[in-house]
Amino acid sequence: MDQNAVKEAAAYVREKLADTPAVGLILGSGLGVLAEEINNPVTIPYQDIPHFPESTVAGHKGQLAAGDLKGKQVIAMQGRFHYYEGYSMKQVTFPVRVMKELGIESIVITNAAGGINEQFNPGDLMLITDHINNMGDNPLLGPNDEALGERFPDMSQVYDATYLQHARDCATKLDITVQEGVYTGNTGPAYETPAEVRMLRTLGGDAVGMSTVPEVITAGHAGMRVLGISCIANMAAGMLDQPLTHTEVIETTEKVRGEFLRLVSEIIRTLPN
Ligand code: ADE
Repeated sequence: MDQNAVKEAAAYVREKLADTPAVGLILGSGLGVLAEEINNPVTIPYQDIPHFPESTVAGHKGQLAAGDLKGKQVIAMQGRFHYYEGYSMKQVTFPVRVMKELGIESIVITNAAGGINEQFNPGDLMLITDHINNMGDNPLLGPNDEALGERFPDMSQVYDATYLQHARDCATKLDITVQEGVYTGNTGPAYETPAEVRMLRTLGGDAVGMSTVPEVITAGHAGMRVLGISCIANMAAGMLDQPLTHTEVIETTEKVRGEFLRLVSEIIRTLPN
């Protein structure tokens, strides 16, 4: 990855912002609405930012939105870059590097995922406690820039324990039930098969999706504190007697949007230092 490209992108974004953001948000399929809670946001289309890839998926807006969210300066990605779109891991995680270059040390990463855990239901929110990288690739492959992070970064605490406890406390306070579990990152774009779902469950996965893992690895490498939240959009293949569709993913995330907004807004409003 070219750090000069990161610096150029960050310089372009910084120029547009009135305030320095403290928290980064990556908003998954159907969850971009959180950015609408930002007061008088500055919006920056991805295509205007030097070196930024462009998003291609329906339901993804493709812009940064920055400003005050519940008293915190945030910068949100409305739509992310997926590996299945054909982007390299370096491209997928480019925005995380830009956020770090902007000075952001805390990042909330969200996604829509399929439920693997049989106790889960569509519409549940799941705090991500850990992940399994099942993508067969890693954004840190290649020469390591020691200025960005270590060659062999520890991932045992990549989901910040303090943030997790904070998210639990916020959920309790708001009377929102949240699940917790391990997110498995698959490449997609094909949804997993029933046999693969059984395999992933045996391996310890609670949910499966096509994102998040690259961004979390990169944020961890960069020393950022990470909170991950999945919206369980459907039950993974073979668990219900029905096929999986992207329409269902969008419909479910729209249904839980209110709860998601309330929870994440409160988490950000009271995010500990
Ligand atoms: N995203 C939403 N639902 C999914 C599923 N079942 N598998 C993978 N990614 C998903």
